[in-house]
Amino acid sequence: MREFQINHDRRKSMSVHQQARKVTTHTLQEMKRAGEKITMLTAYDFSLAKLVDNAGVDVILVGDSASNVMAGQVTTVPITLEHMIYHAQCVQRAVDRALIVVDMPFGTYQGNSAIALESAIRIMKESEGHAVKLEGGAEILQSIERILTAGIPVMGHLGLTPQSIYKFGTYTVRAKEDSEAEKLIEDAKLLEQAGCFAIVLEKIPRELAKKVSEAISIPTIGIGAGPDCDGQVLVLHDLLGITMDFSPRFLRRYLNLADDIDGAIKSYCSDVRSGDFPNDEESYTS
Ligand code: KIV
Repeated sequence: MREFQINHDRRKSMSVHQQARKVTTHTLQEMKRAGEKITMLTAYDFSLAKLVDNAGVDVILVGDSASNVMAGQVTTVPITLEHMIYHAQCVQRAVDRALIVVDMPFGTYQGNSAIALESAIRIMKESEGHAVKLEGGAEILQSIERILTAGIPVMGHLGLTPQSIYKFGTYTVRAKEDSEAEKLIEDAKLLEQAGCFAIVLEKIPRELAKKVSEAISIPTIGIGAGPDCDGQVLVLHDLLGITMDFSPRFLRRYLNLADDIDGAIKSYCSDVRSGDFPNDEESYTS
């Protein structure tokens, strides 16, 4: 009875969209229209995806940041379609409510729209994710249009696009110059016209992100793009304080799990070495 009351009270304080049984691209559109912020986080495995979904996050991104966070690669360039499908399958088994967006990895959509469509179909069929995300604007428009013809929802990604790191040379803030800012606004409009359902804006000045968010009717999801985007995304391992060697200005750490995990593992080692673990209660008898 008490649990029912708590759930009832919690639901009463939630918006219609937060109560949605399943988040869809349509829900996100409605949230933008209603001025409700969209929450998005990455996940790459079953256990953490379950926690993220249970906590009520609207969108789970199976990001190609798995290349860094899961595989220890320096960039997102090496991750393959097979790796992304594997991570998306693990996440999909855990999720009841959130919309699952899967990153298309580098080399599976640039320059050839037929390959782009084939890759997106593989992601959808083999992982049962709900949408794909591609980095770039006008240069990849044909790929986006072709994927959309198959009824696959597409999220765009503008600003700092980490798959192009070797072109940029650094991970610093993008579009500070007028010409790059103008191109970004044009690209955002192109993606909207093509039929993308949302756009990630990564590491751009907050004023520009505000301008883009006001100029288009689809939601913008910011990372390092200030408070005026329609939603926010972070890499889960950064927010939890598991990855400690990455501290950009935009990151807010809600936990310092690296320290807690270190302490727990050291205690375990010490208990095993001293003979304290396992004790009588932790042992079976015949
Ligand atoms: O791969 C990823 O985690 C991303 C986010 C940074 C938006 O693309």
